Amino acid sequence: MFLQNYWYAVAWDHEIKSAPFGRVVCGEPIVLYRQTSGELCAFEDCCPHRLLPLSKGFLEGDRLVCKYHGLKFNALGECVWMPGQEGIHKDSKIRTYPVAEKHRFVWVWIGDPALAKAGKIPGLQWCSDPAWVFEGSTYHINCNYQLLVDNLMDLSHEKFVHPSSIGQHEILEAPIKVTSDEGSVTVTRWMHNIDPPPFWAANLKSFEKCDRWQICNFSLPANVMIDVGVASAGSGAPQGDRSKGVTGIVVDLMTPETETSTWYHWGMARNFQTGDRGLTFRIRDGQAAVFTEDLEILEAQQKNIIDRPDRGLLNLKIDAGGVHARRIIERELNAGARARR
Ligand code: FES
Ligand SMILES: [Fe+2]
Repeated sequence: MFLQNYWYAVAWDHEIKSAPFGRVVCGEPIVLYRQTSGELCAFEDCCPHRLLPLSKGFLEGDRLVCKYHGLKFNALGECVWMPGQEGIHKDSKIRTYPVAEKHRFVWVWIGDPALAKAGKIPGLQWCSDPAWVFEGSTYHINCNYQLLVDNLMDLSHEKFVHPSSIGQHEILEAPIKVTSDEGSVTVTRWMHNIDPPPFWAANLKSFEKCDRWQICNFSLPANVMIDVGVASAGSGAPQGDRSKGVTGIVVDLMTPETETSTWYHWGMARNFQTGDRGLTFRIRDGQAAVFTEDLEILEAQQKNIIDRPDRGLLNLKIDAGGVHARRIIERELNAGARARR
């Protein structure tokens, strides 16, 4: 049902503190906490005794205590105390998950723990590079993660869903170029000599006329990075000179919760006016408003999909990026299923 053997963003790093934090990732309930050393640990969110979620419990030093009858687990998932008996029942160890912290996020590995390598964490260098500023948040959306991928790989929807911020009619007129390889898809759109849309005009350098770009990159399991920006019209941005413009990277990490719900971690990284904290939060709040508009669309769309199991989706030319991404996901899911058989 979900892609295995990938790192999934489970939370922002500041969200995991010295208290149990529960989250379902790819249908698997997981509890995480930070030890007194600052190290993270992640377990199955289920006490082996009577199956209460351990995220309802509490910490005693580095030990996680179940809220129901007090079983205590160390950071290796081993039960170290049980009430009313000598010794420890042999079936009381809980499953642990590989967990890592990088680029401002906490990641858990879903799949075979032996395959979890830190080098496989997505390379979100802008999120942790001191020359960049990165801020964002998380939305819980009642839709399948692939609807979010479709949405982010086809920005023609901006004209209709986000008319007051980033939408403009030129998006519909500008052609897209779609390229792909083994595990990624890129959709590139350039709009030349246009008025900047309200979001860019209000928050960034304002131009009479600009060249605007949107370069959406999908990579497995469900990450979409969008290189966006505007530059003074005719100043050479399409040829690679962005010195007369501003660039942002919209970071979108989709972590499936269930077949019909997703934890959507989003943000924007930028490398200009990095000392302007007011701008950082204006951009974050602007993005929050934009993605709230998407959320309403996606949840309504998901409801109709559930209510009409006999209806398929119609693929138009604008959907080329999302269709490619779906093919890659499907191929990986099939390969995983074959390997398990
Ligand atoms: S359910 Fe956890 S100790 Fe009983
Ligand atoms: Fe959108």
